[in-house]
Amino acid sequence: MSRKRKPRSESLLDELRRRTKVFEGEAEEEQLSDRTPTGIKGFDELIQGGLLKGETYIISGVSGAGKSIFSLEFLYRGASQFDEPGLYVTFEETMQSLLRNGNNFEWNLGSLIRNKKLLIADFTMMTLGDTALTLNPEAFNLDGLFITLETAVKELGIKRVVLDPVSVLFLQYPNIGVIRRELNIISSMLRRNNCTSIFVTETGTDQTKITRFGVEEYLANGVIVLYWEAEDDKRNRYIEVFKMRGTAHYAGRRRISITNDGVSVIY
Ligand SMILES: Nc1ncnc2c1ncn2[C@@H]1O[C@H](COP(=O)(O)OP(=O)(O)O)[C@@H](O)[C@H]1O
Ligand SMILES: [Mg+2]
Repeated sequence: MSRKRKPRSESLLDELRRRTKVFEGEAEEEQLSDRTPTGIKGFDELIQGGLLKGETYIISGVSGAGKSIFSLEFLYRGASQFDEPGLYVTFEETMQSLLRNGNNFEWNLGSLIRNKKLLIADFTMMTLGDTALTLNPEAFNLDGLFITLETAVKELGIKRVVLDPVSVLFLQYPNIGVIRRELNIISSMLRRNNCTSIFVTETGTDQTKITRFGVEEYLANGVIVLYWEAEDDKRNRYIEVFKMRGTAHYAGRRRISITNDGVSVIY
């Protein structure tokens, strides 16, 4: 396969054509209503059976809320139960740390990785000869990420993608307009390739904003918020489907727990 990237204008044109087809009713109805079960216990029931195939979702919450575990489980369930290979792109937590956490669960990540059903792309370090450099967001080029994503998606038939946390990519950009444009380009590419994607974004502890830049939620098809709240002498976890286009979803927070079997909605 050629690694040469299509000019953006051309990709956008493809996207426009695809959307026009949808409007003209040429796209199969079925394709539009096709859902991807997350496989997370108790969650799919809250969203009419799953996420819409090929759409982009945001998951937000404070540090420790369970965003990475939720996202990894989405890929694990996809690969092991729904025959959908997954790609996890990590920008802050190293692959070792992610795998160490993942291996605490009763999940066989190792065999999925060996069988190319799960791919972890570690963007936390760049190596220069023998020297490992920590990712410097100011020097980070989104074109490199874009090519990595599209190549992996096409060559391995990836159907689920996680970017964790997507917010780190935008620290270098001076204005919201550019962030919006870049997010749109990445999610259009993923949509074109029929990948259901989760973009992780971190919120501050005050949680005045749903997402870090306040723009991510407008681009995504849905926003899921995870809470890790201090109540009396302990903390409890909650999940809320804040927005989900095309879906009649439960409105409000539900209690979740994280156990050795992963995330579950408990009531
Ligand atoms: N095996 C496990 N069983 C129960 N809880 C766990 C387990 N592993 C991690 N956790 C909980 O999940 C938290 C981290 O979740 P993580 O997904 O990394 O958060 P985030 O990505 O939102 O910062 C830990 O602080 C811990 O409370
Ligand atoms: Mg995390």
